[in-house]
Amino acid sequence: MWRALVTTVAFLVLSLSSISNVRGSVTTTAPQPWDVRCPRTYIEPCECMAKWDDFLNRQVKTVTCSGPINATSFVLPNTTESLRLANVAGLEPGMFDGADEVMVFQVNGLTSESLPADILQGMENLKFFALWFNLDLTSLPDNFFGNLRNLEKIDISETGIRVLSVDTFANLTALRTLDLARNNLENLEAGLFDDLSALSFLDLHGNNISSLPPVGNLSSLSELHLQHNSITTISPSALNTLHSLTKLDLSRNAIQTIPTGTLIQLQRLSFLDVAYNPIVTVVEDTFVGPTNLTDLGLDDHQLDTWNPEVLLNLTSLRWLHIGNVRYDWNQAMYEGGKWWFSCPPDACVFGDCNIADHQPNCTCRQGFSGDACDTPIGQNDGVATWVVVVAVTGTVVVMVVTVFGCDRFWRNRKLRYENV
Ligand SMILES: *[C@@H]1O[C@H](CO)[C@@H](O)[C@H](O)[C@H]1NC(C)=O
Ligand SMILES: *[C@@H]1O[C@H](CO)[C@@H](O)[C@H](O)[C@H]1NC(C)=O
Ligand SMILES: *[C@@H]1O[C@H](CO)[C@@H](O)[C@H](O)[C@H]1NC(C)=O
Ligand SMILES: *[C@@H]1O[C@H](CO)[C@@H](O)[C@H](O)[C@H]1NC(C)=O
Ligand SMILES: *[C@@H]1O[C@H](CO)[C@@H](O)[C@H](O)[C@H]1NC(C)=O
Ligand SMILES: *[C@@H]1O[C@H](CO)[C@@H](O)[C@H](O)[C@H]1NC(C)=O
Ligand SMILES: *[C@@H]1O[C@H](CO)[C@@H](O)[C@H](O)[C@H]1NC(C)=O
Ligand SMILES: *[C@@H]1O[C@H](CO)[C@@H](O)[C@H](O)[C@H]1NC(C)=O
Repeated sequence: MWRALVTTVAFLVLSLSSISNVRGSVTTTAPQPWDVRCPRTYIEPCECMAKWDDFLNRQVKTVTCSGPINATSFVLPNTTESLRLANVAGLEPGMFDGADEVMVFQVNGLTSESLPADILQGMENLKFFALWFNLDLTSLPDNFFGNLRNLEKIDISETGIRVLSVDTFANLTALRTLDLARNNLENLEAGLFDDLSALSFLDLHGNNISSLPPVGNLSSLSELHLQHNSITTISPSALNTLHSLTKLDLSRNAIQTIPTGTLIQLQRLSFLDVAYNPIVTVVEDTFVGPTNLTDLGLDDHQLDTWNPEVLLNLTSLRWLHIGNVRYDWNQAMYEGGKWWFSCPPDACVFGDCNIADHQPNCTCRQGFSGDACDTPIGQNDGVATWVVVVAVTGTVVVMVVTVFGCDRFWRNRKLRYENV
């Protein structure tokens, strides 16, 4: 009995100390004071703190402002490393003079149609630039990124930008991530990405790109996202120099043909998604290049109209994605002029599975519901968790009280004996 209690207490002490250890590591990522004159917006002061930065993976001196700012009143502290602006309305020339230590600059929610050409010019140490949500902005100034040779990541999303001049990304040889998703880009000039020899991730999804020219000599590019555009034509040599490409998403476009040789150079490609395109014909050698293809995204329509041989010869294929369902390639079979599938093992957790229109269709056992029959009917997990928490807490409190009570009892008894 005593031994059990002592063990329990030791366990409690250990868990408490491990909890405080966890807290200890959390406090190092909590904001720390940074004693400078902090700038103001029109309406309220900004916040100047040393804060954790996910991109740099360390504490950095951060100025965070929400609300409109202007050049006459906005003076950035000289040692600022990260600048986060939200709902600033517009930016003015010369506003960020003295920002030469800024490494991360994020602007969210502008409402101006243009940007001053020089706002990044002093930021020689800039590694990450983000501009989110400015639907009024339709282009970037010429030479906007200048020669920011330290830039590693650019994220410009949800703007109205339609065109990027051919030298927009000139000389950005350190750039690894370029996210241009959900803008309004209509075409890409050949040569736009030519200097980006370190680029590994390029996201152009959700634009209005209608034809795909050669994307350039991106010898390090590993992922290319072009889904949700309006691509109708692909230049046969568009992807020819992407020797490192492993993931390519062309889904939800208006592609009718994948020209002969488009994928021939993509020997390292392992993931290809071409679902939801009105592809009429697939030439025999379409998949000859990417011999390492393990994941292929298609839709029902393509499965029914393509020559099955082009798929059956994919020797490395492991997963076939049809809509939202992922089939193990071993579960697919072509026989009697028809594709046959067996259900993925986890398709219906508490139920029976049938295939209808290439999709698993679950019939749930009594007491379960949901598309995958994994939701017990009439049981609320939240309440159950709550009950367990209260029960455990109660037990612990009772144990602690008992232990301390006993301890005091023994001590009192000892004292009494000693007094005798
Ligand atoms: C700049 O902001 C200050 C308040 O911070 C305001 O008094 C001033 O009128 C603004 N100037 C312009 C040109 O908007
Ligand atoms: C910032 O740097 C400039 C030029 O180096 C200097 O003139 C100015 O006094 C500095 N400001 C602060 C607040 O240190
Ligand atoms: C790129 O850098 C080279 C050499 O520093 C320079 O001559 C050229 O003008 C730069 N290109 C652009 C578009 O800034
Ligand atoms: C996409 O581009 C086409 C011209 O290529 C244009 O007619 C259409 O309005 C654009 N769509 C959007 C949403 O801007
Ligand atoms: C592509 O870039 C790589 C490395 O930057 C270089 O070695 C190669 O010669 C370039 N190829 C072409 C065709 O420009
Ligand atoms: C294909 O995949 C195998 C195993 O993952 C790998 O060893 C090989 O290098 C890959 N081939 C190419 C051309 O990427
Ligand atoms: C598929 O493989 C078979 C046998 O290896 C071959 O005869 C046929 O030409 C191949 N088909 C395609 C489309 O590559
Ligand atoms: C799925 O199965 C149910 C019966 O469990 C049936 O009523 C339903 O029509 C099936 N769905 C399709 C798309 O066949």
